[in-house]
Amino acid sequence: MEKNKGCEIWAIGGGKGGTGKSFITSSIGAHLAAKGKRVVLIDADWGGANLHSFFGVNRPQNSLSDFFEKKVPLKSLIMNCGISGLGLIMGNLPSLDSGDIKYAQKIKFFNHVKMLDADYILIDLGAGSHNNTMDTFLLADKMIVVIIPEITSIENMYHFIKNVFFRKLKVVLNSHGLKDSVNDAWKNRGIHGIKTLKELIAYLAGISPHIKDIIDKEMSDFRMHIILNQIRSSRDITVGTSIKSVCLKFLGMHTQYAGYIEYDNCVTSCINKKQQYMLTYPFSHVAKSIGRLSDNLIYVKEVTAATDEYSPGRL
Ligand SMILES: Nc1ncnc2c1ncn2[C@@H]1O[C@H](COP(=O)(O)OP(=O)(O)O)[C@@H](O)[C@H]1O
Ligand SMILES: [Mg+2]
Repeated sequence: MEKNKGCEIWAIGGGKGGTGKSFITSSIGAHLAAKGKRVVLIDADWGGANLHSFFGVNRPQNSLSDFFEKKVPLKSLIMNCGISGLGLIMGNLPSLDSGDIKYAQKIKFFNHVKMLDADYILIDLGAGSHNNTMDTFLLADKMIVVIIPEITSIENMYHFIKNVFFRKLKVVLNSHGLKDSVNDAWKNRGIHGIKTLKELIAYLAGISPHIKDIIDKEMSDFRMHIILNQIRSSRDITVGTSIKSVCLKFLGMHTQYAGYIEYDNCVTSCINKKQQYMLTYPFSHVAKSIGRLSDNLIYVKEVTAATDEYSPGRL
């Protein structure tokens, strides 16, 4: 099998359920397909797969469990969801969702994902910081976090980002035979005066030039992309900018504030009426925001005060 080098894998995750991960995955997918891109969506919410509902199609018979358990090729699991250029692979792993999928199986899954014939592959993840979710997130080309402007969502997101960052650090140092250094430093963080992940990294980098070299090489371009969903006022937009600062201050991690999406009652009514939102309301503010943030993700631009096109009262 040939590796599809031109294909980009985006994973859409975040700490909390109900923030709009599946809606955003389906909408970005519909937007990119409308622009002539070949897109495959993968529903990797192992326990609560429902991405098909955003296209008004019935739950398909086949799912990713056929790939993991019966070795059915991924390509043959792609179903049509009523939009030209857009395919969907259903999640649902009844016998696997309670435990960890072996790391080797995840790597194999990703190697097969990369071979799919598509320009973009969007992976919709479940809530929480389960190892399966974090590892799928970490293997993607772009890690996209969805939040809503509510304290609980922001707290969950921060835990999620911290857990993913910590897991990445462990994976990186493990691969150089330095597994114990992270665990030991974290276990003894009180003694070493480590309060944040940023301080943990600084401590580890100070242990030896070898570790500093590894961290500099493999952690410096570690980035997440933030989408703020369900905003109700222009003030809400600034939440994305605050999160950016907090990630830099406490994690030492750069993030891209890719965009925001307005709250719109029609999102839910579309799902209930089995309509696809982007096809039903292609000229809505939400559809335009989806287009703008997709471009930002592709061209690495972000929301800034200067480029902000939001005007209060336009909802
Ligand atoms: N921008 C939005 N405006 C209004 N409702 C939204 C918006 N985004 C998502 N929703 C609603 O929020 C609920 C949860 O969305 P969903 O995409 O399933 O979240 P998640 O996948 O993060 O659990 C759905 O009922 C959906 O209609
Ligand atoms: Mg979902």
